Amino acid sequence: MAHHHGHMKLVLVLYVSWAVSLRHAQPFKAVNLGNWLVTEGWIKPDRFDGIPNKDLLDGTQIQLKSTKLQKYLCAEQGGGNIIVANRSSASGWETFRLWRINETSFNLRVFNKQFVGLSKLNQRTTIIAGTKNPQNTEVLQIIRKIDDPNRIRIRANNGLFLQVISDTKVTADYQGDGWKDSNPSVFIMTILSDQAMHGEYQITNGYGPARAPKVMQDHWNSYITDADFRCISSRGLNAVRIPVGWWIASDPKPPEPFVGGSLKALDNAFTWAQKYRLKVIIDLHAVQGSQNGMEHSASRDGYLEWGDSYIQDTVKVIDFLASRYAKHPSLAAIELMNEPLAPGVNLDSLKNYYKAGYDAVRKYTSSVYVIFSNRLAADSKELLSSAAGLNGVAIDVHYYSLFSDDFKKMNVQQNIDFIYNQRSSDLNAVTSSNGPLIFVGEWTAEFAINGASKEDYQRFARAQLEVYGRASFGWGYWTYKCNVDHWNLRWMLDNGYIKL
Ligand SMILES: *[C@@H]1O[C@H](CO)[C@@H](O)[C@H](O)[C@H]1NC(C)=O
Ligand SMILES: *[C@@H]1O[C@H](CO)[C@@H](O)[C@H](O)[C@H]1NC(C)=O
Repeated sequence: MAHHHGHMKLVLVLYVSWAVSLRHAQPFKAVNLGNWLVTEGWIKPDRFDGIPNKDLLDGTQIQLKSTKLQKYLCAEQGGGNIIVANRSSASGWETFRLWRINETSFNLRVFNKQFVGLSKLNQRTTIIAGTKNPQNTEVLQIIRKIDDPNRIRIRANNGLFLQVISDTKVTADYQGDGWKDSNPSVFIMTILSDQAMHGEYQITNGYGPARAPKVMQDHWNSYITDADFRCISSRGLNAVRIPVGWWIASDPKPPEPFVGGSLKALDNAFTWAQKYRLKVIIDLHAVQGSQNGMEHSASRDGYLEWGDSYIQDTVKVIDFLASRYAKHPSLAAIELMNEPLAPGVNLDSLKNYYKAGYDAVRKYTSSVYVIFSNRLAADSKELLSSAAGLNGVAIDVHYYSLFSDDFKKMNVQQNIDFIYNQRSSDLNAVTSSNGPLIFVGEWTAEFAINGASKEDYQRFARAQLEVYGRASFGWGYWTYKCNVDHWNLRWMLDNGYIKL
């Protein structure tokens, strides 16, 4: 009897581990819920329409040319020095990144990350880029000419205007008015619009603390609903990958400018996922400090600053998400960080973080997958050794035929062949029978070339479905909803471009 009982236990254990592995029995055909809980302005630009001075958001890069001298302001040596006005053309040292305080007041961050501010030098209030911690003396008000908004004057916090005294002397002591070219306080502001950022930081700080909570809540409530999960499930998809930001872990009161409420939205997603038998892959898309300097990592100004000092904070976010959802039957995986960028994110730091994040998830569950995202611009096999010996790890590779001139140079057929040949062998190269599973967590049927026909898109999508369909963990289309049709999976399905 005792022996028999022991046998029963063994069978039970085997059954349980079999059941656990069943949780991931089929490779995922997922869709990303981009722009829901982490803003990406290009996906739905009109969300920014209500922001005053919406072309002056955090991270906006500006260059300032004195109308009097016809020279650009420049942070001499890139920062840590005076501001001069002696450059006839503008590049890095002549470019200032905005930190928005409100619709008219800003800090200006220079190339070496100091902020433009005031300093008493030889009796005059001189403009320097000296500190990395902006205070009142670094607050600058931008005053735009009403009928010519890129003609500006800049008021310092002493109440006086910046002016060019000479090409090596810029001070904050002009008291006059007017917009004439000869006025030493007038500047032409060039906004580098192709660098403009429209992420979560920009939208929440742009609307500001009085308006952002309602704007964001309305978006979360309406952008993705029960009906969307029903639709996703009915189209033959079996999972959603949901990008979230680090601030979700301090809901309902995240640090400003972020806004509470995304956690409730994620809770809803789990409820709907269960109702429509979809799995959820939580993807930590934006980490503190930013892992790639892009708007979709909620960067404030385009600098990548995630590193060792942020590891513990980021692990805490993973711990929070794992503790909250580990037992939910719909949770399939937690992805520890989306698209870290090499070399800014150092490989050793990332490996340390991935191990710590893995351990945090395993405190709560052994059946949920942990996904390591490959570094952009790095060797796709560099994480295989970190994953070796860990159970339930998948590596996320993102395959876009975009963002490089190489794809523009290829015609349609060459783009399609690239999928069948190059992507297929890329996928084989990272896949091994005893290694981690491989997830093509983001791809799209958008081309780098303009003017492709519907049939071209159909063939391009089919090629990717066929090749990425062999990925051992499955794939995730980017994205479910998008103003740009070919990025919009729902539109692609409804209009017969993609068949699952
Ligand atoms: C601009 O002025 C600074 C400070 O005097 C000087 O070091 C620098 O060489 C000047 N640059 C140009 C292009 O005139
Ligand atoms: C913007 O911020 C500045 C500096 O804190 C403040 O003096 C000013 O009154 C604010 N303006 C608005 C419109 O809130």
